[in-house]
Amino acid sequence: MSAFQLFLPCAAGVEGFLADEVRAITGSNAATAHRAGVQLSAPWRAVMQLNLHSRLAQRVLVQLAHAPYRGEDDLYALAQAQRWEDWFTPRQTFRIEVTAHKSPLKSLNFAALRVKDAVADRFRERAGQRPDVDTHHPQVRIHLHLTEADALLSIDTSGEPLFKRGWREDKGDAPLKETLAAAMIAASGWTPAAGLPLYDPCCGSGTVVIEAAQIACRIAPGLKRRFAFEHLLAHDKAAWKTIKDEAASAVQTSVAPIFGSDVSHRMVDFARRNAERAGVAAAVQLRGGDALERMPPCEPPGVMLLNPPYGERITAAGAAGQRQRERAQEARIGRESAQAGSSEEFFRQLASHWKRHYAGWQAWILSPDRELPGVMRLKATRRVPLFNGPIECRLLRFDMVAGSARGPQPPVHADAS
Ligand SMILES: C[S@@+](CC[C@H](N)C(=O)[O-])C[C@H]1O[C@@H](n2cnc3c(N)ncnc32)[C@H](O)[C@@H]1O
Repeated sequence: MSAFQLFLPCAAGVEGFLADEVRAITGSNAATAHRAGVQLSAPWRAVMQLNLHSRLAQRVLVQLAHAPYRGEDDLYALAQAQRWEDWFTPRQTFRIEVTAHKSPLKSLNFAALRVKDAVADRFRERAGQRPDVDTHHPQVRIHLHLTEADALLSIDTSGEPLFKRGWREDKGDAPLKETLAAAMIAASGWTPAAGLPLYDPCCGSGTVVIEAAQIACRIAPGLKRRFAFEHLLAHDKAAWKTIKDEAASAVQTSVAPIFGSDVSHRMVDFARRNAERAGVAAAVQLRGGDALERMPPCEPPGVMLLNPPYGERITAAGAAGQRQRERAQEARIGRESAQAGSSEEFFRQLASHWKRHYAGWQAWILSPDRELPGVMRLKATRRVPLFNGPIECRLLRFDMVAGSARGPQPPVHADAS
């Protein structure tokens, strides 16, 4: 059985978690973490398994060739020498995607054009016919990655990026990518087997809780979508059917307690509909409510995992937002400083609410704000660097211990409303 050189790109900071995931999916120890991705040599079966089961990879690329380059003519020659006719036919559509890191070339568009010409010319010379380009919905995507001196050509077996699981139709203003939600879960160490409840008190459209619930129900993230490899000549329909059937029969009912709430009832509605489409409506409990007032959904210990409102994209709502707006109006201060103050006020109140009522819980917060522990007057016991798109964040862990709040504390009790 021949082996393919695979590269699975991922967000910076996720490489180690992805390498572990790839080893678990393929059952092979060969995966190695590199800058922004994981590499391995594996048979075609692994291509299908990784596309179907990876929660952390952005896509699965098959690397075809790499060579030093100095200009666009070298890229043309490299692309022209590849046996594209083994991968697709001239009746299919294609597109070239270029990524670059320190490339000296002036125009990446021109580089893409030269590779496109080389692929088309090779087909025309051999088959008298060339495939058309489709920039929006190509059946085949060819990746060109340029570094300072090397060019790498790959074929993309995923198509649409893997964070598109096929269940999200309703999104909020600042939805988290599914791959980042999965990275937060991996970094927190939460697993359904450990038996701890998981709670996102700012759940928005539900990404964190839906990912967690799918893990608990053993629902493969790609079960609801199609992949580019299904259009390639290498596609093995029978093997793919077996892999999908195995994944479908692994689905189980979850007993892991998973909760989400959000101050916006519109968001809770979105989260419910998304959970329904993701097949986990029965595995998550979603409610409305202000994070500054909601009591724990169950007895401790438990894990809170959230990307709260921050910065310019979204501002705190609920009690803290309201109090700050009133104060800003009274003081007639500008809108911008009202928002910045509102955010600090929100986190201060959140910390004091947790200190009072969430003793025994771990709280993991994704935030771009390095000063957040100081603002919350809490000590971060872990800081995991993760990128939310281009924004460098930290996933901060805070341990809520009994007696950390000043003043008398009411007993912790579950709130099932
Ligand atoms: C950055 S978004 C979270 C996005 C979410 N992870 C998702 O996947 O859609 C922050 C969320 O916090 C919610 N929020 C703002 N203030 C809140 C409060 N006081 N209590 C609870 N939720 C709040 C917003 O409605 C928004 O949905």
